[in-house]
Amino acid sequence: MTVRDRDPLTGHQTTGHEWNGITELNTRVPIAIWWFILVTHIYAVIAWFLLPAWPGINDYTRGILGIDQRAQVEQHVAEMRDARAPWRNRMVDLPVEQIRADPQLARIVAETGPALFGDNCAACHGTGGQGGPGYPSLVDGAWLWGGSPDAIMETLRVGINADHPDTRYAQMLSFDGILSRDEIRTVANFVQSLSGISADSDPDRLAAGKTLFEDNCSSCHGEDGTGSTDLGAPNLTDGFWIYGGDDDAIFTTILKGRQGWMPSWESRLDEADRTLLTAYLLELKEAAQ
Ligand code: HEC
Ligand code: HEC
Repeated sequence: MTVRDRDPLTGHQTTGHEWNGITELNTRVPIAIWWFILVTHIYAVIAWFLLPAWPGINDYTRGILGIDQRAQVEQHVAEMRDARAPWRNRMVDLPVEQIRADPQLARIVAETGPALFGDNCAACHGTGGQGGPGYPSLVDGAWLWGGSPDAIMETLRVGINADHPDTRYAQMLSFDGILSRDEIRTVANFVQSLSGISADSDPDRLAAGKTLFEDNCSSCHGEDGTGSTDLGAPNLTDGFWIYGGDDDAIFTTILKGRQGWMPSWESRLDEADRTLLTAYLLELKEAAQ
């Protein structure tokens, strides 16, 4: 190590380190940086007093200005709730048909409905409510439990085969062991004939199927197969199917039975949301028809 020297070119001191004739400059930290560090340190000390800063064991220093972001969020949420309260209360108070006729409420239904339906219902019923295998369409006008606003509200409140004490029970029992495979095929053929699906039109076979239907199925699906909204038994004559109307689907339905499951929404969506969804569903259905 040599004695500190000055670099002739810049006038700066060198550190005294030298590698193969290259000496290291001891350039000073620019004065602006010192100022920057000083000012930020002063700001930090002031901020400790003004703003919430140091954690304690049970609490934290709250600062002289009393700024609390948690309280601000709570206040914003409360403001939102207050701003929504007038229309949410009206949703609960008014009949669904009146909500749909009211321009302001109808606009809220159109704006809020898609997100509410998308978040909670679309996974099973499809984004447009068109359903899919195992999940009924909500826009075809063929209702299992009735399509009046009250009926839909009740379906949403209690669910179907759900864990709600008042839930609706949809029990299509399994006929395995009650009817032979051949009888199941015969009655399935008759069911297809009800909705005009090209079925085996042999009159003897149809008559046998009709008798089997009357003996085993009509208590729920009705003598004429048009179903019952009290039992959630689908209309078998309308050409709309939850599980499918082809030979295999109907055979499986009768052999194994079907118990569709729809959650109860009473504890997850409040009454205003359920009313809004009901109005939205009726809107979707009318748009689809
Ligand atoms: C986990 C899947 C699932 C979710 C989520 C779901 N549903 Fe359902 N929903 C069903 C099934 C399955 C049925 C038919 C049950 C049956 O077979 O009887 C049904 C039936 C219905 C019915 C009765 C239809 C009729 O014809 O009477 C309505 C109305 C309904 N759902 C609306 C909704 C709404 C609104 C939402 C969102 C809040 C929703 N569902 C969320 C599965 C679901
Ligand atoms: C105890 C009442 C009950 C009886 C008896 C009954 N069903 Fe059903 N059936 C239902 C219910 C409820 C459903 C809807 C099940 C669901 O979706 O969860 C259904 C669904 C069906 C479906 C499916 C329809 C679709 O849209 O996919 C067919 C087909 C059917 N039943 C045919 C029959 C036939 C044929 C018989 C007689 C052999 C019969 N059912 C007896 C209650 C009954």
